[in-house]
Amino acid sequence: MACGLQIKDEESSYNKNLFCIPKHYEEDLERVFIPHGLVLDRNGECLARDIIQDMGSHHIVALRVLKGGYKFFADLLDHIKVLNQNSDKSVPITVDFVRIKSYCSDSPTEKINIIGEELSTLNGKNVLVVEDIIETGRTMRALLSKLKDYKPKMVKVLSLLIKRTHQSSGYKPGYTDKFVVGYALDYNEYFRDLNHICILKEKAKEKYKI
Ligand code: HPA
Ligand code: MG
Repeated sequence: MACGLQIKDEESSYNKNLFCIPKHYEEDLERVFIPHGLVLDRNGECLARDIIQDMGSHHIVALRVLKGGYKFFADLLDHIKVLNQNSDKSVPITVDFVRIKSYCSDSPTEKINIIGEELSTLNGKNVLVVEDIIETGRTMRALLSKLKDYKPKMVKVLSLLIKRTHQSSGYKPGYTDKFVVGYALDYNEYFRDLNHICILKEKAKEKYKI
């Protein structure tokens, strides 16, 4: 599994006053967790290169899990395309989407429905599943198990963030137990219009409650 930026406990977040934050969110955010520039740099310099190295010998299908993470997905794909098109051994890269509906979510083996996509196109391809945030890992496990039915050549998962949570299924240790927003990560659809990944204040959860 390819991983995102690894933030250690001793590496603290940043004072939000150092950054350009939209006025309408100033009061809602505690700190800047990962500045926009840092995400872009890691996407381009590190992740995209790793992906091309690991998967670039064969047709890649980038599979976006809806509806989160469109910024991460789009930026990452831009970087992958640049590396791929400048390579002597470039391969086709296509894009697909899955929307997942989970049920029995408190059982350790989650059941999911994949909604509205014809995934037989994954047969024989190198599939890169892109998520914005993995929390317990149960949905991802269930998705990976379903994808096997379509007989892809290879499946890799890439997540921008992996949460540290007591509910984790043990799928992968995490980096944060805070609720984070920005870079298209939302809280009830708000904060997608914030560039930096920021830590949401507890009281803002009340404000944007639905
Ligand atoms: N931010 C945004 N979406 C989420 C989070 C988070 O911290 N955790 C689970 N979904
Ligand atoms: Mg969300």
